[in-house]
Amino acid sequence: MSPKFKNPRAKFDFQGRTCSITGVGAYVPEKVLTNADLEKLVDTSDEWITTRTGIKERRMAAKDEFTSDMAAKAAQRAMKMAGVVASQIDLIIVATITPDMPFPATACFVQQKIGAKRAAAFDLEAACSGFIYGLEIGQQFIMSRTYDTVLVIGAEKLSAITDWKDRNTCVLFGDGAGAAVLQNRENSHGLLTAVMGADGGKADLLFMPGGGSRCPASKESVDGRLHFLRMSGKETFKNAVQAMCSAAQEVLHRCEVDITRIKCVIPHQANRRIIDAVGERLGATPEQMFINVNRYGNTSAASVAIALDEAVASGKIQRGDLILLVVFGAGLTWGAAVIEW
Ligand SMILES: CC(C)(COP(=O)(O)OP(=O)(O)OC[C@H]1O[C@@H](n2cnc3c(N)ncnc32)[C@H](O)[C@@H]1OP(=O)(O)O)[C@@H](O)C(=O)NCCC(=O)NCCS
Repeated sequence: MSPKFKNPRAKFDFQGRTCSITGVGAYVPEKVLTNADLEKLVDTSDEWITTRTGIKERRMAAKDEFTSDMAAKAAQRAMKMAGVVASQIDLIIVATITPDMPFPATACFVQQKIGAKRAAAFDLEAACSGFIYGLEIGQQFIMSRTYDTVLVIGAEKLSAITDWKDRNTCVLFGDGAGAAVLQNRENSHGLLTAVMGADGGKADLLFMPGGGSRCPASKESVDGRLHFLRMSGKETFKNAVQAMCSAAQEVLHRCEVDITRIKCVIPHQANRRIIDAVGERLGATPEQMFINVNRYGNTSAASVAIALDEAVASGKIQRGDLILLVVFGAGLTWGAAVIEW
């Protein structure tokens, strides 16, 4: 029987171990913020938000609930599914643009919260593309046999950097976390291939000006609302569709499969119109596209991780299925991955 896809690593006389996702988990805060709630905050309407973005509601973390709290809860759920205890974790990677604080890394707080005493821990900043960047980095340690068990988490408290006076952005984002346990699983190809890309020339499309070394916190930076995210919506939209499509096509090409062979496409959940445009250009059917942006809005690095968890929990993805993850974010950054589940 001929193989149902090509493992791109084969061309390198691959000697390493394959890397699979052996557990997934997600956590979203209890509090729901609906479009009707937003109508009371800014000059907007449920109709505008729904038609432009597909978003109906999003989750808001409590005042005393931090990115590391959500990350730890998602991680514990992923560990349970993988049958892994804390002492087995070798490395924790947290992808986030809303760390608990600039330093130390949120991954260190997570390490402490889940009791993974042996684990190394660091944060990764690739905005909404962070989870795929994290999978690709984590996979290197499994393939090289450096580590046996790696935890990759995407977690965000975007409500903390959202300008609640800016109707252009405040309707788009939400809080939450998703996690994956990476391990070798015998007789599975796991993560077949991934692409990661960036274009720093377009950094000004989506950014937060204040709080870093360029513009440290000051009275002026606070008065100027520089500690909130800023976005050029239309330009970001165009770049997102283009970058997500080419990244997805690149990974499909490498695996020598066409879109019909993909059981489930899990795109970054930023905007329903972006997802529909990407799906259409890739030739995917609506049934193949996983969508939950209506319930959570854009949760940045957590987005694809939460969606993956929901797709698995709903039975949409079965062992042996091929799935396609595709992301886009500030940086600009983008990425795509094909996984044999
Ligand atoms: C933000 C976005 C929904 C705006 O949709 P759009 O069709 O581009 O809308 P426009 O920017 O043309 O704005 C149209 C009008 O709606 C207004 N508007 C913006 N936000 C609004 C809101 N929440 N409610 C009501 N009106 C709003 C604008 O002020 C503008 O009014 P004007 O024509 O009087 O100036 C869309 O550009 C988008 O989704 N971009 C990508 C964002 C994204 O996903 N970023 C994250 C990537 S990881």
